[in-house]
Amino acid sequence: MRLRSPPPPPFLLPVLLLLLVLSIFMGFARAMSQSKASFKDQFDIMWSEDHFKTSEDGQIWYLSLDKETGCGFQTKQRYRFGWFSMKMKLVGGDSAGVVTAFYMCSENGAGPHRDEVDIEFLGNRTWQPYLIQTNVYKNGVGGREMRHALWFDPTADYHTYAFLWNNQQLTFMVDRVPLRVFKNNGKPNNFFPNEKPMYLFSSIWNADDWATRGGLEKTNWTLAPFESSYKDFSFDGCQWEDPYPACVSTTTQNWWDQYPAWHLSDTQKMDYAWVQRNLVIYDYCKDYARYPKLPPECSLSPWD
Ligand SMILES: *[C@@H]1O[C@H](CO)[C@@H](O)[C@H](O)[C@H]1NC(C)=O
Ligand SMILES: *[C@@H]1O[C@H](CO)[C@@H](O)[C@H](O)[C@H]1NC(C)=O
Repeated sequence: MRLRSPPPPPFLLPVLLLLLVLSIFMGFARAMSQSKASFKDQFDIMWSEDHFKTSEDGQIWYLSLDKETGCGFQTKQRYRFGWFSMKMKLVGGDSAGVVTAFYMCSENGAGPHRDEVDIEFLGNRTWQPYLIQTNVYKNGVGGREMRHALWFDPTADYHTYAFLWNNQQLTFMVDRVPLRVFKNNGKPNNFFPNEKPMYLFSSIWNADDWATRGGLEKTNWTLAPFESSYKDFSFDGCQWEDPYPACVSTTTQNWWDQYPAWHLSDTQKMDYAWVQRNLVIYDYCKDYARYPKLPPECSLSPWD
């Protein structure tokens, strides 16, 4: 009985080495081409081009807000399901009234039938903590707000914010920690955005009528312009093609639509439990004054 497999024939070794070198090189080339994809290849400015700028090498993008206007960009393409992540650094100092949003939406505007998934960063007075507000819309109906504190200062450095979206669940991720899990129970009338492909957006605007302490804290315009910055956009999702949509099947070979993306892993469950215990400021599923009868998805368990 042989305990080891025989050594490969000698001619195989150089071939294997060559393959290894080639695959490393190709992986590297791919990573390079991804990170070098210019803003213009993937995004359009939605409004006020003159409030947008990039670093000299094009790798960092800045959106600014002044008394006149904010600014926003969106992907050229729509996607149905996938992984979408961005590194963002938010307006520092006194940012009360200023909201930076990172979101997905099936339309360019706030149409009455849109599906939408939001991450909104609500600015604050200097040294007062930012809040992160998330929300989900289906067919124009929202009201699924949650608010969380963060465990770091989002204005001091770049952090990764991401959506992991498939037909089983939508996970809002912050630096790979699942901040929020929104479940689909698979029933046809469930409240889960899964039919419409969505664009990805980001924008900065003045929301001092509601954002900070419910609108009590007003934007201090003498500090304008307010600036949020972005880098390392990355995504892996299904690009929608009209008129023959490519993303109609719900079973795919993609990692973002496999078992590990349909459920939290054990490590993620520990992180998520920690988030639930320490960071939740508001949860619509606990707001009985607002919803005497809670929306049905509130009974779905994020632990499943
Ligand atoms: C801003 O800071 C105040 C005081 O710490 C806090 O009550 C509030 O929740 C913070 N965030 C927002 C968005 O109001
Ligand atoms: C607005 O910012 C300016 C410049 O820092 C400061 O002097 C002023 O007191 C601030 N106003 C308010 C209402 O906080």
